[in-house]
Amino acid sequence: MKTETCKELDVLISSTTINKRNAENKFTLPPLPYAENGLEPYISARTLQFHHGKHLAAYINNMNGLIAGTRYENMCLEGIVMESDGGLFNNAAQTYNHLFYFEALRPHDATKAVPTGKIASLIDASFGNFETFKETFTKAASTLFGSGWAWLTVDKDGKLAIEQTANADTPLRHGKKPLLTIDVWEHAYYLDTQNARPKYIENFWNIINWDIVNQRLR
Ligand SMILES: [Fe+2]
Repeated sequence: MKTETCKELDVLISSTTINKRNAENKFTLPPLPYAENGLEPYISARTLQFHHGKHLAAYINNMNGLIAGTRYENMCLEGIVMESDGGLFNNAAQTYNHLFYFEALRPHDATKAVPTGKIASLIDASFGNFETFKETFTKAASTLFGSGWAWLTVDKDGKLAIEQTANADTPLRHGKKPLLTIDVWEHAYYLDTQNARPKYIENFWNIINWDIVNQRLR
């Protein structure tokens, strides 16, 4: 995949960081953009230690093993997601999806709890108002059967949509530009809210980084 194609796909603000390889040409786990306890009480440090430090680290490690000696070895992450299948796709897409998810969270700030700027206008234009958007997104996240992700995406005309993907699947593979996601795999919330996915989703609304969502609209 050409470098220009990677740039077209780099909706992920931290794309440069993940695509900067170490001395052994391996992808490495980027640090979280906040402290491990920075999302408390909505997501605990213990959840982040496992979710970021173990689950995401394992996806990156597996991807490094699977690309070694193949045509994917020197591709950008986005390129691997677009062109791979099977186990490599699962690990590369999970890497992408997790980075995308962690990147758009931040410590709770009551003054920044609702969207502002361009994303606020697009939400109003597409859904009528923020409350309707919140209800629709929450429903998509709560009704997804099994493991997967709920997404806010935007098309070329600025129209927003809410989508569900199962397992590692990602809107990138369907020609959609993602703006925000929530991980609804059980490993994202089990340590904090056990089986109660709705409580985890409710908590999520307190820690969304809308500045990052606006940057993704560039
Ligand atoms: Fe996850």
